[in-house]
Amino acid sequence: MTAPGEAGPSWSLRPATLEDVEAIAFAELELFPDEAWNVFQLAEEISHPSRRYVLAVEDGGEAERAETGREGALLGYAGIMLAGDTADLHTIGTRREGIGIGRALLAWCEEQARAGGAERMLLEVREDNTRARAVYTAAGYREISRRRGYYRIRGQRIDALVMERSLTERPAP
Ligand SMILES: CC(C)(COP(=O)(O)OP(=O)(O)OC[C@H]1O[C@@H](n2cnc3c(N)ncnc32)[C@H](O)[C@@H]1OP(=O)(O)O)[C@@H](O)C(=O)NCCC(=O)NCCS
Repeated sequence: MTAPGEAGPSWSLRPATLEDVEAIAFAELELFPDEAWNVFQLAEEISHPSRRYVLAVEDGGEAERAETGREGALLGYAGIMLAGDTADLHTIGTRREGIGIGRALLAWCEEQARAGGAERMLLEVREDNTRARAVYTAAGYREISRRRGYYRIRGQRIDALVMERSLTERPAP
């Protein structure tokens, strides 16, 4: 995929596997230096039956993988937990912002959540993460509550905003 009119890498989505945890752990350190998950936490997440994880990888993709055993660079990843009629977005991040990867990862998670029987998606976002909040709002999420002091970052307490989107009604295009 490449966003229309965008120069930049072409990329694809594929489900994550246990073989991907090391690459994801490196990306975690870049994207979430204050709260990165380690390989053990990631392995537990990805292998858990109620989780669904996806990667965005630079093309080369399948053909290169079949030929060389390698594929393009990891550009992003996301994961959800299925819990009955609700799904929770556990993580989402991209190394190439602004070319549609975040939206595509989120859409993949929403489809998996619907397929797993969820009627709504919940997520938590740091109050000071204005970019992510704007992306979620653009995707149809709205704030439903606040968890005061939820994140403790280098001794500072930061609120989490809880955001929700119904998965039973599609937003206007
Ligand atoms: C949040 C994040 C995943 C978004 O991914 P992204 O690939 O940059 O987002 P996209 O390019 O797909 O943009 C998604 C939509 O939000 C819109 N958007 C992006 N930034 C925006 C901004 N600052 N203000 C308003 N809208 C914005 C885009 O226009 C796009 O809408 P469109 O598809 O209708 O054009 C990415 O910024 C990221 O990885 N951040 C660091 C990790 C992080 O904070 N993760 C979230 C933790 S809760």
